[in-house]
Amino acid sequence: MDHHDPGYGTTARVLHWVIAVAVLAMIPAGLIMVRDGLDRGLQDVLFIFHKNLGSILILVVALRVAWRITHPAPPLPGDLPAWQRRAARGSHVALYVLMVVLPLSGYVRVRAGGFPIEGLDALGLPALVGRSKPLAEAASTLHALAAFTLIAVLALHLGAALHHALIRRDGVWGRMWPPRAPGPRT
Ligand code: HEM
Ligand code: HEM
Repeated sequence: MDHHDPGYGTTARVLHWVIAVAVLAMIPAGLIMVRDGLDRGLQDVLFIFHKNLGSILILVVALRVAWRITHPAPPLPGDLPAWQRRAARGSHVALYVLMVVLPLSGYVRVRAGGFPIEGLDALGLPALVGRSKPLAEAASTLHALAAFTLIAVLALHLGAALHHALIRRDGVWGRMWPPRAPGPRT
């Protein structure tokens, strides 16, 4: 890697890892809470966790997208094959789209179904979507489809990150992993 390129800035890294930790908790919570015969108490806890953390993510993801639009990614190493550049770009765009679609479809699914989101309700925020069974069903289908697409793209993302960290050792891992490499940074 070019030693004058210390990678992503602090804000981009903090947003990446806050969202990564949250999403990696949201996926198993979602998968477990929809299972038949699950203990009701555990199911309630998982639903409350999933709906409320997911609602916060709408805001955090919006911040991240705004930050990304105004702060371009650092250039990839010059010797990276063209297909890997395209794969990186395509998978990153897909991850951003899924990060937006998942919490929004979850919100619509819950509100169109007439269900509470405890944190938002406590703040007095009204439901922005009216009750509608067909809308709730469509949002539910989209949410599950997006979730399984996310799991697939994340598998590629993690594979690529490890490939850079362990095999290529080209500094791409260090562009996102904290702490930041020393060097000048705007
Ligand atoms: C343990 C889990 C993860 C690891 C090790 C990881 C690692 C990385 C690394 C090393 C990069 C920098 C790639 C580059 O320099 O081009 C990156 C970028 C990125 N990661 Fe992750 N990541 C993880 C989880 C996630 C999750 C859960 C999401 C989203 C749901 C995500 C979304 C992204 C996006 C969108 C980028 C591109 C950033 C940009 O250009 O704005 N990552 N990740
Ligand atoms: C990044 C954010 C999110 C991720 C990664 C995610 C992930 C998942 C996953 C993996 C499932 C299980 C899918 C299935 O087998 O049906 C699920 C289900 C569910 N999620 Fe999310 N979710 C997110 C945000 C939200 C939000 C914000 C809400 C509501 C405010 C929500 C509400 C639900 C509900 C109600 C279900 C049960 C499925 C249904 O009854 O239609 N999710 N989610």
